[in-house]
Amino acid sequence: MRLCMIGTGYVGLVSGACFSDLGNEVICVDKNENIINKLKDGEIPFYEPGLKELVFKNYKNKRLIFSTDLKNSVKKSDIVFICVGTPTKKDGNAVDLSQIFNVVKEISFSINKFKIIVTKSTVPIATGDEIEKILSKKNNKSRFSVISNPEFLREGEAIRDFTYPDRIVLGSNEKKSSFILKNLYLPLISKGVHYINTSRRAAELIKYSSNAFLATKITFINEIANLCEKTGINVEDVSIGMGLDKRIGSRFLRVGPPYGGSCFPKDTKAIISTADKFKTNLSVIKSVIKSNENRSKLILNKIFQILNNKVKNKKISFLGVTFKANTDDMRDSACLTLIPALSKKGAFVKYFDPTGYKKEFKKMKNVSFESSIKKSVENSDLVIIHTEWNDFKSINFKNLSKNNKLIIYDMRNIYSPSKITSQGFKYFSIGRWKY
Ligand SMILES: NC(=O)c1ccc[n+]([C@@H]2O[C@H](COP(=O)([O-])OP(=O)(O)OC[C@H]3O[C@@H](n4cnc5c(N)ncnc54)[C@H](O)[C@@H]3O)[C@@H](O)[C@H]2O)c1
Repeated sequence: MRLCMIGTGYVGLVSGACFSDLGNEVICVDKNENIINKLKDGEIPFYEPGLKELVFKNYKNKRLIFSTDLKNSVKKSDIVFICVGTPTKKDGNAVDLSQIFNVVKEISFSINKFKIIVTKSTVPIATGDEIEKILSKKNNKSRFSVISNPEFLREGEAIRDFTYPDRIVLGSNEKKSSFILKNLYLPLISKGVHYINTSRRAAELIKYSSNAFLATKITFINEIANLCEKTGINVEDVSIGMGLDKRIGSRFLRVGPPYGGSCFPKDTKAIISTADKFKTNLSVIKSVIKSNENRSKLILNKIFQILNNKVKNKKISFLGVTFKANTDDMRDSACLTLIPALSKKGAFVKYFDPTGYKKEFKKMKNVSFESSIKKSVENSDLVIIHTEWNDFKSINFKNLSKNNKLIIYDMRNIYSPSKITSQGFKYFSIGRWKY
């Protein structure tokens, strides 16, 4: 099968590389020439464990090609995957679908034989119907088929998630195209991966509902953590006790800063906006968004409290600034709220992240990148462990800091309070009594 992935970001590049590794010829297209040139030079434009090797292997085998020429790439392909961004519109909760529709317009001029057009991007209910309408303006309906195949991979685990997904969802009302796509995924399905064939609209909603549910789980346990802090309970005991119930499950019951990233914040807003359009009130998801937004303020107040409201001139070190470990993605990371607020109050913020310097803080007064954990921690008054990278799991603070008044705020509950306090440091975490 000849495949074309349009949009060579986290989803398009990972799925393109994985599909090529399964023996397909794949053209990865992006309008950003810089990204395509980097890929041709063997450079991966973002951090994703294992991706460089996979891309290199298949590029060398000539099963993976990179191009900026959308029209020609579509013409050469049997199946076209749309993997472009679907951000939130600037004014409100609705999804900005302009990248999707721009791509579809270009595809509509390139249908030279029967093509399956697959939406991998996360799109609201009935976007597939809209795509079909646009394509029909220039093409007979028998020349193409529009399928929804939402992607569930997680950044940092993307290759594993693509290769061993919990499920593959195909949304199509048409047997022939579903059969072809099912065949494309057969190497995974035959290993035992669940495959669901459903209507196109249902597939679109499955993706949003899944993300909204996961965001709800995180927000739920974060609120329970607030209660634990006031009632002498350790939230981890609650997570374990709840998670052992198979109806609940233990994943996504870990406390921390507000959820962020490229998906949960925008997808929770999007499902609400779609529901509003269909005159349905998703009150649970609305309160999840509100609670998550409030959490930034709550965490910030906790930092002020830890510093006895004396933030000015305090030296604060952030360990990890991405929204989660094993990615360089800064989209909607809690740090984008916390660091500017602390800098505005006169703190000097140093940060270290295993994925390096972040342009997001470039113009911020008193905020600087340090090239190691040691450089970031030494001379600090407060260390905030923001992201759960393995690099931060066994730090010997005694070796790194001469400041015996050092305070550690562990937002991921990595450390044992007794171990850190026995070294003479003050220690705070989330949802733990007295700490
Ligand atoms: N990032 C994730 O973890 C993840 C997981 C599952 C689903 N999704 C969904 O997948 C979609 C893509 O997400 P992403 O994180 O990969 O986005 P991204 O922003 O990393 O990449 C999108 C790419 O599309 C390119 N693009 C935009 N318009 C184009 C055009 N006209 N022609 C060619 N290329 C074009 C951009 O240059 C960019 O490189 C979104 O809908 C997202 O919600 C993302």
